[in-house]
Amino acid sequence: MKELFSLNKYFVRYRLHLLGGIVFVGVSNLLAILPPQIIRYAIDFVQDTLSVHSVFSSSAFTTFYENDLATALLIFTALVIILSLLKGFFMYLMRQTIIVMSRLIEYDLKNEVFDKYQQLSMSFYKQNNTGDMMNRISEDVSRVRMYLGPAIMYTINLAVLFVMVITTMFNVNPEMTLYVLTPLPLLAIIIYAVSQRINKRSEHVQKKLSDMSTFVQEAFSGIRVIKAYNRMGEREVKFTEECNDYKDTSLGLVKVEALFAPVMILMIGLSTTLTIYVGGRLTIDGQVSPGNIAEFVIYVNMLTWPVASLGWVTSLVQRAAASQKRINEFLNEANEIENPSKEPFQLKGLIEFKNVSFTYKDSGVKALRDVSFKVEPGKSLAIIGHTGSGKSTIANLMCRLFDVTSGEILVDGKDIQQLNLDDYRNSIGYVPQEVFLFSDKISSNIAFSTSIANNDRSAIEQAARDAVIYSNIKDFPEGFDTRVGERGITLSGGQKQRISIARAIIKNPHLLIFDDCLSAVDTETEEKILNNLKRLMNERTTIIISHRVSSVKHADEIIVLDDGAIIERGSHEELMNLKGSYADTYEKQQLEQLRTAG
Ligand SMILES: Nc1ncnc2c1ncn2[C@@H]1O[C@H](COP(=O)(O)OP(=O)(O)OP(=O)(O)O)[C@@H](O)[C@H]1O
Ligand SMILES: [Mg+2]
Repeated sequence: MKELFSLNKYFVRYRLHLLGGIVFVGVSNLLAILPPQIIRYAIDFVQDTLSVHSVFSSSAFTTFYENDLATALLIFTALVIILSLLKGFFMYLMRQTIIVMSRLIEYDLKNEVFDKYQQLSMSFYKQNNTGDMMNRISEDVSRVRMYLGPAIMYTINLAVLFVMVITTMFNVNPEMTLYVLTPLPLLAIIIYAVSQRINKRSEHVQKKLSDMSTFVQEAFSGIRVIKAYNRMGEREVKFTEECNDYKDTSLGLVKVEALFAPVMILMIGLSTTLTIYVGGRLTIDGQVSPGNIAEFVIYVNMLTWPVASLGWVTSLVQRAAASQKRINEFLNEANEIENPSKEPFQLKGLIEFKNVSFTYKDSGVKALRDVSFKVEPGKSLAIIGHTGSGKSTIANLMCRLFDVTSGEILVDGKDIQQLNLDDYRNSIGYVPQEVFLFSDKISSNIAFSTSIANNDRSAIEQAARDAVIYSNIKDFPEGFDTRVGERGITLSGGQKQRISIARAIIKNPHLLIFDDCLSAVDTETEEKILNNLKRLMNERTTIIISHRVSSVKHADEIIVLDDGAIIERGSHEELMNLKGSYADTYEKQQLEQLRTAG
């Protein structure tokens, strides 16, 4: 339960909604308990009038009484209708305050969770799967909303109604009240048990549903592979199995849900019968009037739903507490990479690694061992090495997506962990190894890295020219407005890489990191891009990571990585003279190129 206390700050924020809701609940209940009293009065009035009438049974009196009775009944009816309408109006206001409050809090909570997600480090994303994170922001938040809205509303309603109705009933006749209320606790307990079972089963159904959507989603995104290997039949069989599973669990849920209404009706019937029986006996004894019986029947019916909701609300609150616990787990998760400083920082471009070692915590892979190098502003550094040698890890550390395990990284002479992280990242242009484009227009994908408006076409077009993708884009039917991704066209690997490059250079970064992003581009285009970079990155720092010697040979310094350690370093000429691993790779790649060219 204490998990839910973390929501109290929201109650304070929306206190007017909450207070308004409580007042409206009170008023609507007050209006609800008046009609039964009028009905009691009407019934007793009719009975009294008729008994008086039977004493003076002369024709003159008859018409007089009949007219009088009809008018009185009309007035009673009108009163009941007006009160009911008023009650309805206040119930509307009650929902407009409390349910609206719950929606507003849901909105705030979702934003809070999303904000936190964005703050959290890469290791957090490694440790938690996407489905789980999606669930906490959607499913769990909705469950918490059920507590904030319906649960709170019904609880307040029940409390107010109980106090009002039971006082009124006790005033009429305590004995009858006690008898009539006996089945109600039983009702609450049974409904609680049924709700618990419903919740458990619907959780199963939810789980099956998410299994099924994962399956379907994979079938769609992997459709190319499925078709190419002709596995459609086998997928179909698998899907039918998943569907059957889902159907069986759903039917299990329906079975329990079907119990809900009969149980309620049975209990209402029991209470009503009891009321009439006990009320009848008391009327015979002359302790209550027939009108009181009618009044009590209405009270009992009024109490049944709120009492039933008590069981339902209890299980809602339990579920919300469990969900809030899961949400709090993430909200309280410490962020490994904190921004320590608010001081503005302007990057000049001096990057130095000093004996940096790095181990990925989750896999325990020692990715870098004692790596040291220094790049001056305006210079370029290239990193080459076999796959898995730690090249991308260096890029990750430069962007401070992770912090070093030992050693230090100095940026303009200052420890990277002391810098204003926002300012620092704003001055980096990072092209990751795995290109990611949003399902949006090409222009928006390029402009993504900056705050320049999507319609500043000249900057976008210039970036596209520098990334040697301009003429490709122009050839698309809608040019820069062409949509890519899910609902748009599919780009080739090399096109994607170059759009990703344009995204990095449009922001005029002071440090540009290219992580193997020329791998799908032919050497001629590569040459052009690298030449453009030389012009653009004048006075700025460039880091180029690649498998190919052709990408790195013009760099001011080249380091060769092997299993996380630097094994050779120097300019292209120096490394060639060394006749080591670099020269070896160079020769092999030259030969290969000749073979493909020939
Ligand atoms: N996020 C991660 N979590 C755990 N281990 C990782 C992670 N990223 C990389 N590794 C491991 O660290 C080692 C170095 O990986 P890295 O990505 O730096 O290699 P790379 O030189 O960029 O390789 P490639 O040329 O294939 O891109 C590898 O053994 C890899 O399995
Ligand atoms: Mg890599």
